[in-house]
Parts: sequence; C-alpha cells; structure tokens
Amino acid sequence: MYDPTPYQVDLTRFPEFRTAEVPGPRSRELHRRMERHLKGFSDHVRLFPAAFEKGYGCLLEDADENVYIDFSGGVHVTTLGHCHPKISEAIARYASRLMNAHDFASEIKVRLLEKLAQTLPGDFTGFQLYDAGTVAVENGLRLARAITGRQEFVGGFTDFHGKTGHAAGISRTNIYSGPSRAPGFYMLPRPDLYRPWWTRSDGTPDTEKYLEYYAAFLKEGTTGQVAAFVLEPIQGWAGSVIPADDFFPKLKPFLEKRGILLFADEILTGFGRTGSMLCMEHWDVLPDIVTLGKGFGNGFPVTALAVRREYEDFMGRFSAGNTYGGNPMACAAALASMEVIEEESLLEHARDIEAVFRKRTAAWTGRYRTLGDVRVKGCLAGLEFVKDKTTKEPFPEVGERVYMKAARNGVVCIPAGSILRISPAIVIPEDVLIKGLDIIEEAIAETEAEPD
Ligand SMILES: Cc1ncc(COP(=O)(O)O)c(C=O)c1O
Repeated sequence: MYDPTPYQVDLTRFPEFRTAEVPGPRSRELHRRMERHLKGFSDHVRLFPAAFEKGYGCLLEDADENVYIDFSGGVHVTTLGHCHPKISEAIARYASRLMNAHDFASEIKVRLLEKLAQTLPGDFTGFQLYDAGTVAVENGLRLARAITGRQEFVGGFTDFHGKTGHAAGISRTNIYSGPSRAPGFYMLPRPDLYRPWWTRSDGTPDTEKYLEYYAAFLKEGTTGQVAAFVLEPIQGWAGSVIPADDFFPKLKPFLEKRGILLFADEILTGFGRTGSMLCMEHWDVLPDIVTLGKGFGNGFPVTALAVRREYEDFMGRFSAGNTYGGNPMACAAALASMEVIEEESLLEHARDIEAVFRKRTAAWTGRYRTLGDVRVKGCLAGLEFVKDKTTKEPFPEVGERVYMKAARNGVVCIPAGSILRISPAIVIPEDVLIKGLDIIEEAIAETEAEPD
C-alpha cells in the first residue's frame, strides 16, 4: 500500500520562493558562467535558465533556495523522486567499495540480473548492461542482426531512440545526423490517436490500413532484409504520444509472420513510468527485444538491453558489453530502484495518479481554445497546444509561454515546442499533483489572456 508520508509537501507555503523573481540572481550568475563554455543545451534550460542544486522527493531546489514541484524528473529520469534514501545509500555503499571490475561477476550484479529476470513480464532472461540509452539501442540493433541475419530496420515517424549513428537512423533526425538516414533504415507512420493518418468513420485510427501500408512498404520499399521494427511504446520525446490500443496487439503477429522482431524501446516508458513495469504490458504484448534506461537507475546512469530466452545466446555472438556497463554502483542503483517500486506499491499508485490527472484535466480542452490534446498514461503526460483545433497546426509560442509561466510559478515541466511534457515522480502524493496542475492551468489561462 502506497504511503505518501515521506513525500508530503507543505502546500500552504507553496511556491516557496525566496527571491522576488525566478530564476534568482545566483541561478542567473551560474547559468551565465555555464553558458560561456557549455554549448548546445536544451530549450528546457534556454527558456528557464535556473541552476538547480538539490532535489528531494517531488521537489527541486534552485541555487537561490527557491523550491519547485518537479514535473520533469531531469528528463523523465527520476521516476522515484530525487534522492530516494534507499537508492542513494545503495550507490554510496558501492562508491566506497568497488567502482569497476569490467564484466566480472559480483554479488550485486548477480542479484540485479536475477531480480530483472524475475520482475520483467514473460521470459526475458538475457541481459546486457550499459551506461546510456543510445548505447543500449545500438547494441539491440546488433543483437537483432545476429538473431535474424538481416540488416535493415524500421522505426516510427517522430520516434526517438538516441543520438548515436544507428539509433539516430531510426529517430526523427536533422541534417547534422548525416547526409541522409543510413542505408537500410526506414521510418513508417504510427497510428497516433491525435493525428491519425488513416481513420475509421468515427475518426479513430484505422490500424488495419496502417498494416496494409506496412505490408506494401516492406515489399516494395525495402530489400526484404528487415531485422526489427523498433518503436517507443508511447513516444516520450515527441510529447507522450499514445498509439491506438489495437496497434501493438495487431503489429506483433504481423511482424511474426514476416520473421521481423519487435524491439520495444522502453528507455523512457519502462520501470513504472506508465503504471506497469513495461509499458507494453498495457496491451499484453511481449516484444522480442527491450531497452531500459532513465528511471531504471532513478538518475544513476544505468541502462539495459533485454532479450527473450529463445534468443539470449545470440548476445554472445558479438562483443556486447562496454566499459561502464554493470559497474557495481549502477547495479546497486537499479536493484534498489526495483525494490522501491515493489516495496512502496508504486505501480498501483502511478495508475491512481493517472486517474487523478484525468479528472483534474478533463474539462481543459473544452475550456482553453489553444489546448488541442491532453494525454496521460500513468505518470507520463503531455499537453499539446494548437493554433486551430481543426487543422491542429502546432502553436509552439503558447507551449513555450505556458512552460515559462508554470516554472515561474513553481512547477518545472519539459517543453517541446507546442507540447508541454509532464513527468511527475510516481511517488507523488495526490495533493502535490493537483497543486502542480493548478499552477499549469493558471499558466494556460494567463497565456490565453495575452495577445498572440
Ligand atoms: C525512448 C528513448 N530511447 C533512447 C534514448 C536515448 O537515451 P540516452 O539519452 O541515455 O542516450 C532516449 C532519451 O531520451 C529515449 O527517450
């Protein structure tokens, strides 16, 4: 049973700001010094140049001691809140005991692997551990090639799988990723609930039509060498974009018939974020390959590649490990995170939070002229702002203004142009979630009251 006690916030004093303006002077000074040397940071920072110094539970504290509700979790990372004592203690224990011993066995690594095999749905028994999501994806692609003997891959429009070579080849990308997508890397549209390409008469996505197109594309557009279809179950980076409920259940047999593996990139959606251990469990579909990251170590850089029993030995066919993968601190962080989810009944709580979120935001698209869509699964949500609700033309200026206003009023989200990504920790008490949503609603109302 979830207990909110350790995560409670005195909301009567909220937002707790010590400076007249946020970001305050110390934040601005640190940002200015960082900006002098650190190049290429995100809109998250550009639009709200704070410096954060502390995090506890669902809260973030900046360099001027101003306290915010954190609806960003880094960037969808701290699923269990900041500095959970059990996780921090586990990391600290190994930081003073053993930092790296390549891929030799150690007790903490064995306990993590056994726990993973026990916790994941289905028969995932083969793993490899890494230090970044994109590295897990790259190795997942190599694994798919080893299993199938095929070379090509298909990704979904606006999916994101990382910023290195082949992971970028199946992501929405730009000219700096290379002269073109790497040969043999293709993208196909997904049945997105808000912007479907092919619809039934009631306006919902017509998944069968997508599959018809996929069949034609695989035959005519590829060389028949597709090893895997790589997909985010819910697209995090694109703005918590949720597919039609029948997509994965219909896609899996479609791919099986063609000898193509289903590779679910659960780096963002995995480990409790959407109210189940894997997001794919919502549709009762077992992928062949899965990648894990972000909340897997709750902030410690640890990621994983998981494969089902029938394919596990293929992992030995290519040198699958890397330098930092499976280091004792990483294993301790991931094991402790898994134990916290179980011990504190957080999957159930994430689902309860989804219900509270839905109830609090139910009237918003009717109430606000620029709010086109509100979507949520567990503790992963997105608000999408549009210029016109019929054409659904994105309205990035509004999305950005809402992000900045919410932050200045005490809630930090993740901006993505016209989309406000909301990713509270799954430990969040209901009243803290509601307070955060109150602040966001105020930010939307204020933005709409201003001239465009
Ligand atoms: C679904 C997904 N895959 C892969 C990645 C890449 O992870 P990393 O930034 O750790 O390389 C991300 C990061 O946002 C992601 O959301």
